[in-house]
Amino acid sequence: MPKKELREEIRRRKHRFTREQLRERSLPIVARLLAHPRLMEAETVLLYYSLPDEVDTHGMVDELLRQGKTVLLPVVMPDRGMQLCRYEGPETMREDEFHILEPTGEPFTDYEQIGVAVIPGMSFDARGNRLGRGKGYYDRFLKLLPHAYKIGVCFDFQRSEQVPVGANDIPVDEVIS
Ligand SMILES: Nc1ncnc2c1ncn2[C@@H]1O[C@H](COP(=O)(O)OP(=O)(O)O)[C@@H](O)[C@H]1O
Ligand SMILES: [Mg+2]
Repeated sequence: MPKKELREEIRRRKHRFTREQLRERSLPIVARLLAHPRLMEAETVLLYYSLPDEVDTHGMVDELLRQGKTVLLPVVMPDRGMQLCRYEGPETMREDEFHILEPTGEPFTDYEQIGVAVIPGMSFDARGNRLGRGKGYYDRFLKLLPHAYKIGVCFDFQRSEQVPVGANDIPVDEVIS
């Protein structure tokens, strides 16, 4: 199935659930992530601040912060790619022009420090191939993190038999759903 069709199919599957149901389904996924040895070991971790249709990471980033980790979140700069900011608590998140919550913490560029990157996706297959939202932001950014252990995150119903792969697509090392 071509990427565009697969994105539409996944979007249809997501619509079968309410936001509340998706939040509830996120809990065991987040529990597995928090118990992951690679994540527990890492001092500096890249997370994402979930949108309503993604695995809910809002509680998780606070927990990681509480554990004393350096928690980083992406900020999408249209035309300039993704940059990272330190997450410094829920009160430091601001809505951008598209009503997406973004961190306002210090910019972070010391990429070698990042031990683990937790990456959302529209779909993943068993080999770790990732389908994003269609802008390639993570593909461009993950090239800068060759050493980081990459964990893809999605709901079970977002997994695919085979995700189409292009020359620029960066796979993850493991998928948790
Ligand atoms: N590293 C890169 N350099 C240049 N263009 C890229 C890079 N990664 C992705 N792109 C481009 O971004 C667009 C979206 O990529 P795609 O893989 O379809 O989206 P997504 O990864 O968000 O699902 C494609 O045209 C792709 O060629
Ligand atoms: Mg891609």
